[in-house]
This record gives sequence, structure tokens and C-alpha cells, in this order.
Amino acid sequence: MAHLTLKDVTKIYDGDVLAVEQADFQIPDESFTVLVGPSGCGKSTILRMIAGLEEITEGDIYIDDERINDIPPKDRDIAMVFQNYALYPHMTVYKNMAFGLKLRKYPKAEIEQRVKAAAEILSISHLLNRKPKHLSGGERQRVAVGRAIVRHPKVFLFDEPLSNLDAKLRVQMRMEISRLHDRLNATIVYVTHDQVEAMTMGDQIVVLNEGKIQQIADPGTLYHKPANQFVGGFIGTPPMNFIKTHIVNNSGAPILEFENFKVELNAHLQSALNTLSGDAVTLGIRPEDIHIGENGKNSVGAQVELVEPLGNHALLYLRTGENNFVAQSDLVDVPQHNTPLTVNFNMDKAHLFHPETGESLTVPTRH
Ligand SMILES: Nc1ncnc2c1ncn2[C@@H]1O[C@H](COP(=O)(O)OP(=O)(O)OP(=O)(O)O)[C@@H](O)[C@H]1O
Ligand SMILES: [Mg+2]
Repeated sequence: MAHLTLKDVTKIYDGDVLAVEQADFQIPDESFTVLVGPSGCGKSTILRMIAGLEEITEGDIYIDDERINDIPPKDRDIAMVFQNYALYPHMTVYKNMAFGLKLRKYPKAEIEQRVKAAAEILSISHLLNRKPKHLSGGERQRVAVGRAIVRHPKVFLFDEPLSNLDAKLRVQMRMEISRLHDRLNATIVYVTHDQVEAMTMGDQIVVLNEGKIQQIADPGTLYHKPANQFVGGFIGTPPMNFIKTHIVNNSGAPILEFENFKVELNAHLQSALNTLSGDAVTLGIRPEDIHIGENGKNSVGAQVELVEPLGNHALLYLRTGENNFVAQSDLVDVPQHNTPLTVNFNMDKAHLFHPETGESLTVPTRH
């Protein structure tokens, strides 16, 4: 297999649409790298530049040590699976899978051997003589993946391949693609806007927003140590809560104040404030780090606006005077909506962000 390197890659469409800005990262050999971010953030553009389907405005892309900017797509040894898998409707599954190899003039016996081996891996051997319209969505998706596998490419690119499937099938295909990765020892670059898909599949996740890379990390680091407010809000459901606070000095030690509430900062969070010039700071806290019904330190009085029971836990949508936030409750007796409630912020798990740039000021202690 192979590793990929993107060096300061920028894409400007039609002279003025800046779709990707100086993407600079490595995709290690045999890694499962996921590009994730909201619609329009440049995910497909990056993938298409790697595949050679889109010109690179600035920067370089390498496979291993070879610069591929000027190599035509068909010579790049990369196979791409698209969202709308576009199978040829008049061809059988076998012919759909064999087509790319036939174009490249592979011997018939070799084609047959490769198609059969790929069909075996994907459990579609019994479907080889059917046409796409007689297949389910999941089976069609497998054929599309099969078309890529038979090529034995150095790198697989997947562009939102599961978005046409229903929820159950998505979970199943997700597992199958992960298994495929283990089995082929392939280098995979996988695009999705679904953070759950990214977290469950990727060993390296590249978070993008508005054409810019926000953070590159493994799933645990992204969740526990988000580099900025965007990542904190994008990774995790429901997202991290953000509250605008200001710093006040309480007999020498800084604490945070919002509305008429005060929360204390541990030494680690206190030291993170050193880099700030003003007294404003954004507090970030995840729903599971807000505990219900405990009086005492760092407690906040709130009103329950909405309760979402989810079986083993419930989400409470809370409101203070000016702030809304979500808490996760594992209580059996979930508070009713419209009731007043005291919650505690677990400040050992809190994050602080710069009030203007949204950059993280701290990497909180996680236990
Ligand atoms: N051919 C094009 N000409 C001009 N602008 C384009 C073109 N293709 C994409 N763009 C713009 O470039 C930006 C990035 O598009 P891209 O398709 O890479 O986003 P994406 O992250 O894949 O989004 P989605 O999740 O919706 O597929 C968007 O603002 C889009 O409108
Ligand atoms: Mg896209």
C-alpha cells in the first residue's frame, strides 16, 4: 500500500471560490483516515484532487515520494467509490465489477479471479449474474466497493458512500468497510459529514470547516482535547455547551461568573487564563459533565425546558436567565419539564476557549 502527503494544497474554483485553504497533512500507510466536516467545507474537493479529478490550484500531493499533481487519474493507482455509486444498469454485477479491468486490458482469467475474490470478500458471489435494478441498496453499495477492490489500488477513496442507505444498513456497511480495511491492509481516505461515522471508523480524523483544517487527531483526542470551539461543538452528540463568562478575582484566585452564577477553576484551568488579555472567556462543558440535583460547589439553578428520554439516559434542555444548555441525566426519576433544578458543573472536565478566536486555552484533565 502507500502513504499520501498533501503539502499546502489550496483549491480555488472559478477564480474566486476558496474551497480548500492550505491543507497540509499526511495519510499514513494502511491508515483509515476520515475527512469530516459540514456541507461545503471542502471534503469532496480534497478527495477529488487526490484522485486527479480536480486540478490543484496551489501545493503538491504525493503518493509515497512521487509527486502526482500532473499524473492523469487513470495512472494514479487510486480507486474511488462515489456517493451515487453509478453502476451500469444494463450490465450484470460481474460485468460492472470487471469493467475497469477490461478497459485496462487485463487477461480474462485474471479478471475472473479478481472479481470472484472480491465478490467473496463482500458476500455477493451469489449476485454476480444479476443486474443492479434487482439489488437492494446495500447490495449495490457492495458492488460499487467491489469495483474498487478488483483494481488492487494503492489507495481507496470513499466519498460519503453510505449516505443513500437507511440507518440500519449504514451501521452494517460501516462495519463491513472497517473489516475490509483490516482484511486488505489498505490505505483508505473516507469522507463523511457524519461525526458518528467518523468517530467509529477513523483511526485518523481530519476535521474541516470552511476549507480549513481545524484539527487532525484520533477519535479520543478529538473528543477530549478539542483544539477549538468548532471541534468541541462538532464532535459529540449532543454537542458541547458553550457559555460566555467573565473572569473575576475572588480573594486572589480567578473564578468565572455568568449571570449570577460563579464557578471555580482548578489550578490547571487558572493557568490557562494567563494567555488572555481581557476578562471574557468561553466555558465549554459537555452534557455528561453537568450533574443533576447536587447542591454545593459550582452549582447553577436552571429551568427544565424539555426532556428527551432515550431509554438508558435522558437529555435535559435547561435554561438559566440568558443561557441554554443540555445536560445528560442517568437518573431513573428524570425531572419533569418546567421544573426548577440545580445542576453542578464538573469543572475538572471543563474546557476554556478564547472568546473571539474560539481557540482552546487548555487541555483539561480527563480521568
Ligand atoms: N465545480 C465547482 N465550481 C465552483 N465551486 C465549487 C465547485 N465544486 C464545489 N464548489 C464549492 O467549493 C466548496 C467545497 O465544496 P465540496 O464539494 O468540496 O464540499 P463538501 O465538503 O464535499 O460538501 P458536501 O458535504 O455537501 O458534499 C463549496 O463552497 C462548493 O460550493
Ligand atoms: Mg461532498
